[in-house]
Amino acid sequence: MAIKTIEWRNGSARIIDQRQLPGKLVYIDCRDLRTLWWAIKNLAVRGAPALGVAAAFGVLLGIKNYKDKEKDTKKFLQHLEDVCDYIGTSRPTAVNLFNVLERMYDVAVSHRKHSVAELKKILEKEALAIFEEDRKVCRQMGNFGAHLIRPGSQIMTVCNAGALATADYGTALGVMYSAKRQGKKFKVVACETRPLLQGARLTAWELVKEKIPTTLICDNMAATLMKQGKIDGIFTGADRIASNGDTANKIGTYNLAVLAKHHGVPFYVVAPFSTFDLKIKSGAQIPIEERKKEEVTSFAGTPTAPAGVNVYNPAFDVTDHSLITAIITERGVIKPPFAENIKKILK
Ligand code: MRU
Repeated sequence: MAIKTIEWRNGSARIIDQRQLPGKLVYIDCRDLRTLWWAIKNLAVRGAPALGVAAAFGVLLGIKNYKDKEKDTKKFLQHLEDVCDYIGTSRPTAVNLFNVLERMYDVAVSHRKHSVAELKKILEKEALAIFEEDRKVCRQMGNFGAHLIRPGSQIMTVCNAGALATADYGTALGVMYSAKRQGKKFKVVACETRPLLQGARLTAWELVKEKIPTTLICDNMAATLMKQGKIDGIFTGADRIASNGDTANKIGTYNLAVLAKHHGVPFYVVAPFSTFDLKIKSGAQIPIEERKKEEVTSFAGTPTAPAGVNVYNPAFDVTDHSLITAIITERGVIKPPFAENIKKILK
């Protein structure tokens, strides 16, 4: 997998500018926190695990010009808290971002006796560990999930849960990459994913590049394919999973889960533990991002709806745990009852 979605390079965060794909593969070097915040907000970098890594690098950008000689560590911790709060205002749904901010802050607090210069080094080490962990857990999930893809089957996915949504491998697509590496032959149906077409622009781009036979469909064609018996399983990523297994993912995921239940198609969520929010009991507590109406009323600057029309544009929906067949994590495959089995696997 030669896709480097996000990297820390000489004091800046280098990201693939995903707004430009599939037309152009170009990079943005985020040298300051504001640029990175803008990149997150505008989906130049996106996907829950990649947002976690971006948050870690954002912290490094936010502290990089802080005076090394400052003696008052409390002031530094206050600055760090402000940086974390600011990053937290970028996008609300993917919990990876908040889990990482908490982890970075806690590491600094637990080393508060160190000098500011040392704290900066400790935080850089932590951010790089977060990056490496993402690479590792994606491959572990791939290995745990690959057996769920049967040779000769056709599976469906939505949005982009691939290398572009993580450091470099993917969650749902990571399972497909691992299955391919095991020599399995299978096909993928990618839902285009309105309004911003992460499925068409990003998932199709990755899968074609990886030479996995892929068919692109408009979102409203999914039911027909399932009715025709042409889908053997659905694999999606996640932005936040509650303690009971309720899962927030890209808008339209819930539609697929309902359809899957109706047609007897297994529905799998692939997500690392950094996507779990065990502070919340159910999906009802997940904050859902609403994005600007222009994403729905125009495409690439061309209007697709009349001016003045009302628009509702939630970026995510929540799939009830009762619709999920299993959740694939880096520690293994979790089956229902989720509330009980999530707790068990964490022990
Ligand atoms: O709005 P996006 O593109 O950030 O939404 C991303 C998704 O919904 C992905 O499916 C999810 O983050 C899982 S990524 C492995």
